[in-house]
Amino acid sequence: MAAHRRRRPWELPESAVTDEAVYLSRRRFLRALGLGGLTAGGLAVGGRGLLDGAWAQDEPLPPLAAPRSEAHADAGRPLTPEPLPYRYNNFYEFTTDKERVWRLARGFRLDPYALEVDGLVERPGALALEDVEALGLEERVYRFRCVEAWAMTVPWVGVPLRKVLEKVGVRPEANYVAFTSFLDPKQAPGQRGGGYRWPYYEALRLDEAMHDLTLVATGIYGKRLPPQCGAPLRLVVPWKYGFKGAKSVVRIEVTRARPRCFWNDLHPDEYSWSSNVEPDVPHPRWSQATERLLGSGDRVPTLPYNGYGEQVARLYAT
Ligand code: MTE
Repeated sequence: MAAHRRRRPWELPESAVTDEAVYLSRRRFLRALGLGGLTAGGLAVGGRGLLDGAWAQDEPLPPLAAPRSEAHADAGRPLTPEPLPYRYNNFYEFTTDKERVWRLARGFRLDPYALEVDGLVERPGALALEDVEALGLEERVYRFRCVEAWAMTVPWVGVPLRKVLEKVGVRPEANYVAFTSFLDPKQAPGQRGGGYRWPYYEALRLDEAMHDLTLVATGIYGKRLPPQCGAPLRLVVPWKYGFKGAKSVVRIEVTRARPRCFWNDLHPDEYSWSSNVEPDVPHPRWSQATERLLGSGDRVPTLPYNGYGEQVARLYAT
């Protein structure tokens, strides 16, 4: 993602910003992720030892079982091996360094947690996590595509956002749905400076929010979300670039006017408001034609709407 005008860490050679030992271990780690330029073998050899050892230090995650949705049991490519989505994250509230998010987010808790749902709804109020999950948890395997041209395939555990909105009753004059992430600089070092306008905020059109593919997820791989993946609840919109999926969401507001969005506000020339996955529309710094899969490191073509065109293209027919 783009930061402000500051020079960005990923624009420097890694060797210029880290000492050699760290640099070498990062190289091995990136190779395990399939991002280090060595694609042959990928995770198979070096990766496994690395991830079972020093990198596999998460607190055990509580199980969160849910029936797998038949319609979303298979995303057309192999699942990303489980530890990887916990070790390579974008969560700027903690750090802009993807490989360090998990360490800095360790112990992060929103406790007590409530999801505020308000705005143009009939029954505004606070939902406990259990209230959301009681709407019918299911497991869905989705492709995930970051605008930085890396991608993964993960089994989310969640509830269609539509069910949450139906529970509170959307009023007829509503057009949009806004999402606000947590604000807690005590727990999140990235919120104590850095020049970003916290909390993170995102939004969808109402028809996008009501689409069956749009999930609020509270789990991943049959377990509760780890902090670095957006615990306790995040948005997942598989046909849009990953930054549309706000993590650790505490408020959903239904609005008439179009809400603002974090990255679109910062760089409207780089991040459009709707940010559907569009391989033919290059980003100034990343071609969007292909993507690198976490794990295998394979580079594969990016599909329009991230492969979900059959389900969503009608939303954008003019
Ligand atoms: N949500 C919050 N609150 N803060 C963030 O920095 N980053 C976004 C999105 N949601 C972000 C966020 C981006 S750029 C991406 S690609 C995904 O989260 C990354 O999700 P992951 O780390 O679980 O893969």
